[in-house]
Amino acid sequence: MKIERPDGILRIGIVGMGAIGFKVCLAVDRGDLEGAVLKAVWDMRPEALARHEELSSRPRVLPVSQMAGEIDLLFEATNAEAMADIVSEALQRGIDVLVMSTGGFALHPELLELARQTRRHLYLPSGALSGLDGILASNVGNLDRVILTTTKHPRSLAGAPYLTEKKINLEGLDGPKEIFRGTAANAIRGFPANVNISITLSLAGLGFHRTEMVIVADPGARRTVHEIKAEGAFGSLYTRTESSPDPENPRTSLMAVSSAIATLKKIAGAVKVGT
Ligand SMILES: NC(=O)c1ccc[n+]([C@@H]2O[C@H](COP(=O)([O-])OP(=O)(O)OC[C@H]3O[C@@H](n4cnc5c(N)ncnc54)[C@H](O)[C@@H]3O)[C@@H](O)[C@H]2O)c1
Repeated sequence: MKIERPDGILRIGIVGMGAIGFKVCLAVDRGDLEGAVLKAVWDMRPEALARHEELSSRPRVLPVSQMAGEIDLLFEATNAEAMADIVSEALQRGIDVLVMSTGGFALHPELLELARQTRRHLYLPSGALSGLDGILASNVGNLDRVILTTTKHPRSLAGAPYLTEKKINLEGLDGPKEIFRGTAANAIRGFPANVNISITLSLAGLGFHRTEMVIVADPGARRTVHEIKAEGAFGSLYTRTESSPDPENPRTSLMAVSSAIATLKKIAGAVKVGT
């Protein structure tokens, strides 16, 4: 984690001031992150951008193309389609990026190579997925199989292209139903707004094409449940996380926001805990 910060202060820019991005804006603005300041913000929707007026640190309103020199780290919280141009622009301008729309890496794996070429850094928070530390550690030569099973309320899956394509109607569902089984690469294509963590998990472990994913729609689910099962020479691992939805955006969990803030604290802080 090497960011050049001559004065020790991490200057943060935020692009995407929606459910996650604006909460992170507020946390940095309040001074919750020791050693970090909010320097610039951007959103393509004027009404979202206007919320910068609620921030007491008075960040500059700048498109990413004009953030170079102003910030050390860009916090991306847009969507899987928009992220490619944003991440690419930032890396080429010498800016590290914390990426929330991690699903975009399955659609644009060249961004991973771009980070290597530009010698910048990409940070991918765990989100609501407990157990990434174990996957990272076991993947040092000892991991054979990883399966992620995600159970969501049908409302959280509404609008997913896979449901339209396969003509799956979840209305009136009266119990849990498996609606997808396949690779993480195919899961993110079918559910681009819902399963970013399958791609984060893939990048921590066996890659998009060897990480398996099952998606279950459950009208009785009050929380989203993520279960990881992994096996290999290291032994075996099972984690289960039940996360409450964000009241502002049922497709996102509250833990997504807190995990993002915890990652920023880790980058800005002097002591870094966890694999
Ligand atoms: N990694 C994880 O654990 C995790 C968890 C939940 C959500 N996510 C992802 O995080 C991202 C943000 O989620 P959210 O709930 O805040 O979404 P949101 O829809 O509430 O907010 C997204 C914001 O990005 C803005 N935007 C879109 N395209 C833009 C562009 N090209 N330039 C500038 N602004 C742009 C929109 O106007 C909107 O304000 C999504 O991709 C979501 O899938 C990741």
